[in-house]
Amino acid sequence: MSTVLVITSSALGAASVSNQLVRDAVAQLRSQNSALKVITRDLGNDPIPHLNSDSAAALRGAAPANDAQGAAAELSKKLIAEIEDADTLVIGAPMYNFGIPSILKTWFDYVLRAGLTFRYTEAGPVGLLHGKCAIVIESRGGWYSDGPAKSMDAQEPHLRALLGFIGIADVTFIRAERLAFGADVRQQSIDAARKELGRVIRPDQYFRAA
Ligand SMILES: Cc1cc2nc3c(=O)[nH]c(=O)nc-3n(C[C@H](O)[C@H](O)[C@H](O)COP(=O)(O)O)c2cc1C
Repeated sequence: MSTVLVITSSALGAASVSNQLVRDAVAQLRSQNSALKVITRDLGNDPIPHLNSDSAAALRGAAPANDAQGAAAELSKKLIAEIEDADTLVIGAPMYNFGIPSILKTWFDYVLRAGLTFRYTEAGPVGLLHGKCAIVIESRGGWYSDGPAKSMDAQEPHLRALLGFIGIADVTFIRAERLAFGADVRQQSIDAARKELGRVIRPDQYFRAA
């Protein structure tokens, strides 16, 4: 059986474009594999706590000195186990102020752990999560694929670096851009992203052999 870990991070709930496209991606994956197991983390709707001195201490590997540190260590363990169980990650990542939502960054803060998801070697850091791929759906009000705002895209390079750092280098980015350019352009962009999802989701890439 194949397992997909779905991470969404929009604050816009039912109005979210990335949430909708993530649902479309999961439906397409399911249509190709009815036995698909789906684990869902809706960070926008059900946020995990941002870091504080207790969670930061726990994530750096200190033995828990109080309940808060114990809870943070447990949450980190659980979030990492969810990735380890998955073959494919589907991540919904809106652009907020040129980057990713802080709650998605927080999720990465809990899962990038030295000795667990990456390790340092003499040749530099090495990711420890092997054999996984990711589909990342990016929603943006503006246009960053090319043109004057391209250099301001701190979303896609950051996501590529974060995932690559833990060993997930096989990442397909789907961009829904120009969502703030009027209703027609917005709809065209959503339709194009949906079509692109249909093109990239193939059984040979996203499913573990039974
Ligand atoms: C707090 C906030 C900051 C935003 N910052 C940007 C931005 O820097 N660039 C951009 O193109 N769009 C920006 N947008 C627009 C969102 O990227 C756009 O609304 C997108 O649809 C959000 O994804 P979602 O619909 O999945 O929530 C911002 C929206 C919000 C709510």
